[in-house]
Amino acid sequence: MAPSFHCSDLRDTLALGERLGALLGPGDTLCLSGPLGAGKTCLVQGIATGLGVDPSVPVTSPTFTLVGEYPGRVPLRHADFYRIENEARLFDLGFDDLLDGAAVVVVEWGERWPSQLPPDRLDIRIEILPSEGRRIELQPRGERGRGLAAALASGDA
Ligand SMILES: Nc1ncnc2c1ncn2[C@@H]1O[C@H](COP(=O)(O)OP(=O)(O)OP(=O)(O)O)[C@@H](O)[C@H]1O
Ligand SMILES: [Mg+2]
Repeated sequence: MAPSFHCSDLRDTLALGERLGALLGPGDTLCLSGPLGAGKTCLVQGIATGLGVDPSVPVTSPTFTLVGEYPGRVPLRHADFYRIENEARLFDLGFDDLLDGAAVVVVEWGERWPSQLPPDRLDIRIEILPSEGRRIELQPRGERGRGLAAALASGDA
């Protein structure tokens, strides 16, 4: 069964992201899905903390560019496919170049164009619960994705 986490408030989401960020290394790719306002960007903020990104640098969804890049223990590249209308546009924006293995790449709404993502990755689905908390489910794809999911589920961070 896919591991999942219950996050009852924003602090839980940030803490889960931070634990995940501490596990990540160069070349790791995460695909975050879930409805508007689910907490994808919040999870990325936690990941940035876990990657050692300077806490005074705000991590916000890249709106006018495809990607925001943040220096850290490993650089973090944060992309958002929400406004990407077709795959050709991703090609024009050079999305491929971001997957050069030098950084951690986290893509919000990545499930819109999954064929553009590497096959070995960790997909993370956030569901908004009626209680207003969130259920965060890991869907690993490939060996590295499975390793990350197992490490996060077992609490090794
Ligand atoms: N575990 C949680 N329980 C309740 N609220 C949460 C939780 N985690 C995050 N939130 C709240 O949910 C909202 C999430 O906003 P965020 O911008 O991260 O969503 P998003 O998934 O990135 O949306 P978009 O698709 O528009 O980019 C924030 O207001 C945050 O405070
Ligand atoms: Mg967002």
